Amino acid sequence: MTSSKKIYRLGILISGRGSNMVALADAVREGRVPGAEVALVISDQASAAGLARAKERGVETLIIERHGRSREEHDREIAKALREHQIDIICLAGYMRLLSPEFIAAFRNRILNIHPSLLPDFPGLHPHKQALDAGVASSGCTVHYVDETLDGGPIIAQRTVPVLPKDTEESLAARILEQEHKLYAEAVAKVIESSDY
Ligand code: GRF
Repeated sequence: MTSSKKIYRLGILISGRGSNMVALADAVREGRVPGAEVALVISDQASAAGLARAKERGVETLIIERHGRSREEHDREIAKALREHQIDIICLAGYMRLLSPEFIAAFRNRILNIHPSLLPDFPGLHPHKQALDAGVASSGCTVHYVDETLDGGPIIAQRTVPVLPKDTEESLAARILEQEHKLYAEAVAKVIESSDY
């Protein structure tokens, strides 16, 4: 009997460096995310360094800039591209724009984000600075479903990272980023394992 196990097509949205996208693509290639393939990388910034890194890995890339359009219009073009590429799961990886409620509703429970704090602590901008200012002994990273709230959707996976006395925003960010790169692949694997779509 032939197996017809579904392959989940991942679409990754980036705006910049793309190190989480690279980590996810490499994890998929190495078989650490069973049942997944990275089918498309979309950047809203033509200058995003991650675009070249995706192409080096043979992943199709698209640049969809906002060009002064409304958020809704921009998101509609992104949604169209995702549908044309039959994307099952959308992974935000350093995508620096808020998504419209229309987009979130269209892909409900299929959009994931990674954030460098232990949510619900320190959502939004400058989470590392927020953690240092709060004087916490540990922070970390979170992969969560995206809903209409800012970094507030249901949590899929988290990893804790110590905050050291001499930490700066940069040193803490670097230590957390190492864990982000492992966590995103684990979280996507968990989502696929428990999915029935
Ligand atoms: C990561 O820290 C991610 O958690 C946050 O933005 C940063 C993106 O980095 N959302 P990269 O583009 O994946 O290197």
